[in-house]
Amino acid sequence: MAGSGTGIAPAGGLGATLRRDAWWVELLPVVVVLGGFGIYATLRAFEGTFYEWGPYLTPFYSPLIDPQHHWWPWSPAILILGGPLGFRTTCYYYRKAYYRAFFLDPPGCAVGEPSRNYRGESAFPFILQNVHRYFFYLAVIFLAFLWHDAVRAFVWNDGFHAGLGTLVMLVNVVLLSLYTFSCHSLRHLAGGKLDCFSCATFGRPRYEAWRVVSRLNERHMLWAWSSLISVGFTDFYIRMLSSGAFHDVRLF
Ligand code: FES
Repeated sequence: MAGSGTGIAPAGGLGATLRRDAWWVELLPVVVVLGGFGIYATLRAFEGTFYEWGPYLTPFYSPLIDPQHHWWPWSPAILILGGPLGFRTTCYYYRKAYYRAFFLDPPGCAVGEPSRNYRGESAFPFILQNVHRYFFYLAVIFLAFLWHDAVRAFVWNDGFHAGLGTLVMLVNVVLLSLYTFSCHSLRHLAGGKLDCFSCATFGRPRYEAWRVVSRLNERHMLWAWSSLISVGFTDFYIRMLSSGAFHDVRLF
């Protein structure tokens, strides 16, 4: 990166920089993809219909709670929305991405920000981002449901089969697993917080676990984007089947 040499933005307010590269280009996909996903997911969560077809269930509605509306009159997705949303919103990678793209605070490395009163995540409201590790625990539970849905997508009324939707759901849950298990909080939990593995209880297995999570963690950004797109696409595909706009293809 061409910068000031110190990594510090020069005085002059928002956008002031000595960088000569097109630093703002990386903001555009974040605005388009994250913004587009946010709008689509909100509309779908509130739609309350077209969430299943055959053995397929869209990830936006999984686990499916009170679909018959015995005690919850609105869309079942609203009941579970907070889990995945909280996990993504507090994710260390997404924080960097949306602080830059939507808050411009700062818009890029060594680029001037709107004000100089930046207090990071040490004060309200952003201090709440520290709950990420708890959303990680919740995400693992959601993942168990999604694996169950992916396996169930093989079970049809006339036997064990796979359609294109089965494949879509399977790819989606694999990408979501890679995203979840590459989490920085898990890496910290596995061993990142230790100074000495050989001195710790279960040092050897923790070292091995930390090594695996570290390898996944190197690609956390990739898993974050690919799983986001796959969740949206899986929902879209099942919605299209459910509404009759698409026909599923049977693979075997
Ligand atoms: S840091 Fe991204 S999911 Fe935990």
